[in-house]
Amino acid sequence: MTKVIGILAGSLRKESFSKKVAKTLIEFAPEGFEFKLIDLNDIPVYNQDFDDHNEIPEAITKFRIEMSAVDGVIFVTPEYNRSVPAVLKNAIDVGSRPYGKSVWDKKPAAIFSNSPGNLSAFGANHHLRQSLVFLNMPTMQQPEVYIAHVNDLFDKEGKMKDGASKDFIKKALESYIIWFNKNAE
Ligand code: FNR
Repeated sequence: MTKVIGILAGSLRKESFSKKVAKTLIEFAPEGFEFKLIDLNDIPVYNQDFDDHNEIPEAITKFRIEMSAVDGVIFVTPEYNRSVPAVLKNAIDVGSRPYGKSVWDKKPAAIFSNSPGNLSAFGANHHLRQSLVFLNMPTMQQPEVYIAHVNDLFDKEGKMKDGASKDFIKKALESYIIWFNKNAE
């Protein structure tokens, strides 16, 4: 049966490099897998009252149903102020509740962090990893995927140019598929 991998890009920006990396991953999806870019645009900021008083916004219900149906998750994150952008952290928080009904539990994950700078969103990568430990997501350890100078990787049409970074991203994705097959329950 086809396995579905949800791809969450931590940016709402139209020309987001994270979204372009996510789209590149979709092009590399191997046979037997469907890669699905998850839209985070309409998810409201989480408020525990939604769950405590059963007043759950439709967009949250939709997101939870969508994420419940995926078998694994790839997070493509930029870095905001040395941490995870709020839009991605919010999606993680929304999916983690109500208590005991987390959509993340046991789903094999990988983090692809990226930045126009040298440091490749190292800080976001590791803050995100901390949440995924708590959420019981087996998260690929090697290779660590740090994508530097992401702004140089795409052509005018938004396609990733051939080169060492593209080769590395393809190889990292192959490692994730192996990781997924070992860890999926
Ligand atoms: C940034 N940026 C940034 N970059 C980085 O490498 N480390 C950081 O801590 C930050 N901090 C930061 C904060 C805020 C509020 C913004 C808007 C930006 C720059 C960031 O990497 C750049 O804008 C990316 O292009 C954002 O990712 P997307 O939207 O291209 O996916």
